[in-house]
Amino acid sequence: MSDHAAVSAGWHHLGTILSHAARPERVEEGSFVTPPITRGSTVVFPSIESMSRQEQKRYDHATIYGAMGSPIQYELEKVVAKIEGGTDCQIVSSGLSACTMPLMAFLNAGDHCLISDNVYGPTRRFAEKVLKRFGVEISYFPPMVSAHELESFFRPHTRCIFVESPGSHTFEVQDIPMLVSVTHQHGAKLLMDNTWGFGIFSPFKHGVDVSIQALTKYPAGHSDLVLGAITVANTQDWHRLRDTALQIGQVAGPEECWLTLRGLRTMGIRLAHQSRSAFEIATWLKQQPEIAAVHHPALPDCPGHAFWKRDFKGAGCVFSVLLHDRYSVQEMKHFINALSLFSIGASWGGYESLVLPTTGEIIRDYPDQKAMKHAIFRLQIGLENIQDLKKDLRQALDRLSL
Ligand SMILES: Cc1ncc(COP(=O)(O)O)c(C=O)c1O
Repeated sequence: MSDHAAVSAGWHHLGTILSHAARPERVEEGSFVTPPITRGSTVVFPSIESMSRQEQKRYDHATIYGAMGSPIQYELEKVVAKIEGGTDCQIVSSGLSACTMPLMAFLNAGDHCLISDNVYGPTRRFAEKVLKRFGVEISYFPPMVSAHELESFFRPHTRCIFVESPGSHTFEVQDIPMLVSVTHQHGAKLLMDNTWGFGIFSPFKHGVDVSIQALTKYPAGHSDLVLGAITVANTQDWHRLRDTALQIGQVAGPEECWLTLRGLRTMGIRLAHQSRSAFEIATWLKQQPEIAAVHHPALPDCPGHAFWKRDFKGAGCVFSVLLHDRYSVQEMKHFINALSLFSIGASWGGYESLVLPTTGEIIRDYPDQKAMKHAIFRLQIGLENIQDLKKDLRQALDRLSL
């Protein structure tokens, strides 16, 4: 299969799962095809015995109070667990909570946590500003580490390793089976932010212990809500995660869960289109004289491209672009201000094209120093006509050359 076909292949396969998910198990006369939203705090019971029976089912998607979840949240949890290939899922209030919650669930004071150098900036900030305060040691490793090098980062008390593949902004694709194998030899757990790979990377088939999703991105898909999900694949991890979520008081609004389910219906077809457009624009940008490099996992020169080919069934719609070093960061800002179809915005995965200048925002312990200082920006490709998007990029690049 050509790389061009490979970027969208996996998204098409999701159509049947997504259009049949969370529908009534038995169609009765007058059944609505969409699940209802139940809003509420109070849940009532006919007897004390019935309330305590329900309370004992807290690991089984049951609730005795609105803060423990709602029926629509549980429907969404089942769908996400199925797509990720895990057994249980906890929906949380944001993608960032989905990153921080499992770290709180699986680490104790005195433990050491290893973090891949290319994770989402706020995940790293949480480790620095909160986990360290609670007595967790943190260190970072380069994303393209070999098994041998990785060994040297482990300490006797390393309990978790947190990765994100492809990495935020720099898009390195990691050798997840190798990372899992070394991690498990040390008796630790591997937590993965799989937001870019939702539906096209199967974390549990590759041995990942905890998979994290910012549902805000592809699943919600309309840039109108914030939500996250954490999926696990065994009972022990599920109990630990669910207990931590309940003790912290994690709540997901029923409207957000319902809207995310609605967004999921079209995720396969949206992403099939957006991933093709993103790959075509990435390939085209590489040929423009103003561009020094494009970081997109499906391009052969992206670090870890071979792992993308081996492990992924498609590609996402967000990637980074480096201007030639003859252009300053100030000139990049002029270029970005000259774009008319790309709004300047921090998120991705929605229906609309976005641009985000990232020079100075990318924090790395193991940087390509030169690349980090370069004029670098991130593009998210939406559902607009691809020729219109190219035309917009070209007219803004033309201002650079003046
Ligand atoms: C890879 C990744 N993980 C997590 C998040 C956090 O998601 P949210 O914005 O829902 O908190 C983001 C947001 O940009 C992200 O890019």
